[in-house]
Amino acid sequence: MEIIIQPTPEDCARIGGKMVDALLRQKANAVLGLATGSTPVPLYQELVRMRREDDLDFSGVTTFNLDEYIGLPGDHPCSYRHFMQQQLFNHINVRPERTHVPNGLAVDIKAECNAYESAIQAVGGIDLQVLGLGADGHIAFNEPVSSLGSRTRIKTLTQKTREDNARFFDSIDDVPRHCITMGVGTIMECRKLLLFAFGESKAEVIAEAVEGPIRAMVPASALQLHQNVKILVDEAAASKLQQRDYYKEVFSNKPDWQRAGREEH
Ligand code: GLP
Repeated sequence: MEIIIQPTPEDCARIGGKMVDALLRQKANAVLGLATGSTPVPLYQELVRMRREDDLDFSGVTTFNLDEYIGLPGDHPCSYRHFMQQQLFNHINVRPERTHVPNGLAVDIKAECNAYESAIQAVGGIDLQVLGLGADGHIAFNEPVSSLGSRTRIKTLTQKTREDNARFFDSIDDVPRHCITMGVGTIMECRKLLLFAFGESKAEVIAEAVEGPIRAMVPASALQLHQNVKILVDEAAASKLQQRDYYKEVFSNKPDWQRAGREEH
């Protein structure tokens, strides 16, 4: 794992943006895995800026989002499809038919989940997956005690997650109870993982995920078994990492070309 600690979320987003840029310049038809929540917003702002100012080309890109609420149509203001349109897709030149978000209105949810997995396989897998981190250690919507080998499936949201996400809805009663989410196993098959976490509220859980034992109670801890994962955190989220001085030293000794994501750690 490579832990990159930066002063602010915007600094983390700039590094993440360079990694996406390096990937797209090397592979124009790259497959990007995308996340929702407030954490990836600075990255999406950076990608939109790079599209506008640096001509970053998304025309060959395919995207897969991690998850979606069950019961919300794509045009619902709180659906993850709507979020992605607003935050990213409407502002870059990705082809709409190449953007994938699970269908929260699917009648046959199992078939929808299997089709999602097949669609990922059909394009050769995900090159780079962006991740946030839930306060309870979830990645995507893989709540505590999710199987670390799980695939795309229906999950029941915990009360904690529904409370955390209630800020996007009129009231907690409006937050759906179920979702479709890529599994931990699906995420582990992505070739590169880029997990962002910002703010003091994520400090404890990031320390558990990165430096604690691998356990289903903290699904993000499964990332310790991945061979190509970068954790981008601001100072506040890094504040409880025991080895943070070491992580800083490793990053500051890297040559510029490596920091720009052109070579793996
Ligand atoms: C939701 C999403 C996750 C995200 C998490 C954290 O539960 N399904 O993918 O990582 O929220 O949200 P935030 O980034 O707003 O803290």
